Amino acid sequence: MASSISRHQRVLSGMRPTGALHLGHYHGVLKNWVRLQHEYECFYFVADWHALTTHYDEPGVIADNVWEMVIDWLAAGIDPRSARLFIQSRVPEHAELHLLLSMFTPLGWLERVPTYKDQQEKLREKDLATYGFLGYPLLQSADILVYRASMVPVGEDQVVHVELTREIARRFNFLYGREAGFEDKAEAAVKKMGKKNARAYRDLRRQYQEQGMTDALESGRALLEGQQNLGQQDRERLFGYLEGTGKVILPEPAALLTPAPKMPGLDGQKMSKSYENTIALREDPDSVTRKLRTMPTDPARVRRSDPGDPAKCPVWHLHEVYSDDDARQWVQEGCRNATIGCLDCKQPIVDAVLAEQAPIRERARDLAESPDQVRAIVSEGCEAASQEARATLREVREAMGLAYT
Ligand code: TRP
Ligand code: SF4
Repeated sequence: MASSISRHQRVLSGMRPTGALHLGHYHGVLKNWVRLQHEYECFYFVADWHALTTHYDEPGVIADNVWEMVIDWLAAGIDPRSARLFIQSRVPEHAELHLLLSMFTPLGWLERVPTYKDQQEKLREKDLATYGFLGYPLLQSADILVYRASMVPVGEDQVVHVELTREIARRFNFLYGREAGFEDKAEAAVKKMGKKNARAYRDLRRQYQEQGMTDALESGRALLEGQQNLGQQDRERLFGYLEGTGKVILPEPAALLTPAPKMPGLDGQKMSKSYENTIALREDPDSVTRKLRTMPTDPARVRRSDPGDPAKCPVWHLHEVYSDDDARQWVQEGCRNATIGCLDCKQPIVDAVLAEQAPIRERARDLAESPDQVRAIVSEGCEAASQEARATLREVREAMGLAYT
């Protein structure tokens, strides 16, 4: 599989094993993972080292959550025949790359990442003025760059980390992509593409570099991806030569946001463990029903006969996720005219959430009964991931002057 799909089409993402997954994870990230696995080569991993950056004083949390999380992924539709599932700490190359990247990462870049201060504020009870926590986004950059992934499906809060990764990659390529005789080697590589493609490449390069045409850059990249007879090194040279930089040893990834609307929690804020407004992916049906039935509504609707305004009601936000146009119309009219009660209004949501969860819960039950199968899936994933990570590190070490004898 890996060889027929270009590495420029690779997807990578991870989650921290810090608790049971909830519907926010499902709608915000997991559904995207499931969709992408059919289109690209996907690597999904358990970020257990990242969990330690905030839970270093309760390491038991990791073992408790790792396998449950993998079961959640599989139950939600991740197919191990399409995607590789692995555990970060079983691929030590992530740590090695993190260390190597740290050599040239300005402290200010890390101090300025907004999640650094935000999370310190939010998790006041913990001392997060640590070296590891400051390095959290850099470790994430290493996670992404070690697979030379081009796409990173994440929630909105993680986009800044992908942005940082792009800057790190750019700095790396700038510092270490400038080999001796680069131009000559690049020109030699252009010739290897054959006359027609070489001419097309040169035209696109000129259009981009002289006229700043960004679609020429895109077309040039696409052209390179389709070249079968270029080796890895030549390909890196030509990506850089196209852009006017050195070799692109570590390509810049892009964040991929879920196209779905934000998943609201029971109180109308974003669904998040720290707001205690979640419904777990595998929450039992009675509890789901209870939580939804007691969830707050427009405070103006004290009595059934009081009209309400869906815009002021967290239940409405759930209709935006779960209901079709007809049902939404029914809510809008029924609420404003007080012809439906809030429990009537909530019932379709209860039904939709239960229907969504039923097959997930069932698959999870089966998986929980075959822990060996789950572990085998992860071992295979770790093996595949390691192979890729080892190849990247060989190049990185060489570029950074560590391949001496
Ligand atoms: N920081 C991410 C989160 O909290 C998890 C993560 C770690 C990650 N490494 C990653 C996500 C690499 C995408 C790519 O959700
Ligand atoms: Fe909210 Fe529906 Fe009640 Fe209106 S009828 S307040 S939208 S729960």
